[in-house]
Amino acid sequence: MGREGQPAAPASVPRHVGVIMDGNGRWAEARGLPRSAGHKAGIDALRRMVRASADLGIEYLSVYSFSTENWRRPRAEVSFLLDLLRRFIRQDVAELHAAGTRIKIIGAREDLEPSLVKMLDEAEKLTAENNKLTLVVAFNYGSKQELARAAKKLATEVAAGKLTPDQIDDAALERALDTDGIPPVDLLIRTGGEQRISNFMLWQCAYAEFVFLPVFWPDFDGAALQTAVDEFGARERRFGGLKAQTA
Ligand code: FPP
Repeated sequence: MGREGQPAAPASVPRHVGVIMDGNGRWAEARGLPRSAGHKAGIDALRRMVRASADLGIEYLSVYSFSTENWRRPRAEVSFLLDLLRRFIRQDVAELHAAGTRIKIIGAREDLEPSLVKMLDEAEKLTAENNKLTLVVAFNYGSKQELARAAKKLATEVAAGKLTPDQIDDAALERALDTDGIPPVDLLIRTGGEQRISNFMLWQCAYAEFVFLPVFWPDFDGAALQTAVDEFGARERRFGGLKAQTA
């Protein structure tokens, strides 16, 4: 089913694309630039990706922009990334809103400054009714921590007598995740040449097709997205079942 009032994209187009935007640092280092220049160029690549995704009819785009493990980086780089999120929200929200993009930010907000949390809340609120593309920005996000938070939520409900342990099934856990209401990831793209999922949407990627691209994130463009989508279209998804023709 497509978004409200819009025709569904062809089945070969993934409904939900996740992206691990890796390689900013190496892109910069290869050019003799500071790592921060790579992150800045990474924002431009993100803007291109949002536009290209909407053009293709992708409904959900989730991007890993700061992991819970990224706090281990030098303080200056952490500050730069935090500042980049502020700038992205400040500079891009109006345009994203005008283009019909709904913004959702997932991850732990309690470690972020209240003024930044306020900006994130406002961006979500402003764009909540949009239905063209949902951009999920994973910031201070770790999938293991998200699962632990979900378990805690359910345990609290059990302790309060609102839920019995028997009622805890995969649907209940899914509702307790930050991604409540968002369909599972169909296609996971990781740039930068590494072939791993790290701490990104472990639950949500259960049956995702993975495409690893050797390109550094700042060089990612519409053609690279098309390559990944073509690869996705050529895969046979069985979700644990049998081949379509013999089922
Ligand atoms: C990985 O590259 C990238 C990150 C840790 C940050 C990704 C951030 C952006 C693309 C821009 C920020 C976006 C928002 C919305 C704030 P790396 O630095 O690990 O690259 P390397 O592996 O080459 O060192």
